[in-house]
Amino acid sequence: MAVDPLTLFHHRFVPPEPNRSPLVLLLLHGTGGDEDDMLPLGPYLAAGAALLSPRGRVLENGAPRFFRRIAEGVFDEEDLVHRADELAQFVTAARERYDVGSRPMVAAGFSNGANIAGALLLLHPKVLDGAILFRGMTPIAAKAPPDLAGKPIYLGAGRNDPLIRPYASEAWAETLRGAGADVTLQWSDTGHALAQEDIDAARDWLAGKFSPARPDGRS
Ligand code: MLT
Repeated sequence: MAVDPLTLFHHRFVPPEPNRSPLVLLLLHGTGGDEDDMLPLGPYLAAGAALLSPRGRVLENGAPRFFRRIAEGVFDEEDLVHRADELAQFVTAARERYDVGSRPMVAAGFSNGANIAGALLLLHPKVLDGAILFRGMTPIAAKAPPDLAGKPIYLGAGRNDPLIRPYASEAWAETLRGAGADVTLQWSDTGHALAQEDIDAARDWLAGKFSPARPDGRS
């Protein structure tokens, strides 16, 4: 019997509040997090948005992740492709099951969560309508650039991030721009951890790009 894609990931779903944000936020945690980690961020980024928050299916010494890595910043590409496929199936099933199919789906991911969201953008470009990627990097070399024409993507990078050097953030932004995305690369004077200024800046960016005034949510 075929597996129900909704059961692939432990997850939380928070329904939207009426007449507030038009969005569904796909919340994707960093290494060692779980489905509860990013939930408090959701209402702060977009009050009243529906929230979909899965837990990564891979364990690294007991720490949940969204795909395997060989070393820090060196990814197991075969596993990454497979896990991005699974997540795309899950998100597609969740949209239907939770009856939020007409709402724009915007990922908000941190670190490993930002990287699996990046893989979704490159490998399954139709699944997301936009993305906030905190402390992410190029997850995989795309064989052919996907069509991300006009897709709003926010990259939140830390100038002092010891894991992601500035050139790597610039390169990731260039890859996404090359695919036609509407990229905002925002720098903060921080390291790898998220700071309040990152979250405030992402919230303002999101409100500017997706507004409740338009039926499709786009500004
Ligand atoms: C990753 O593995 O996705 C990145 O190295 C970030 C991390 O999760 O540490």
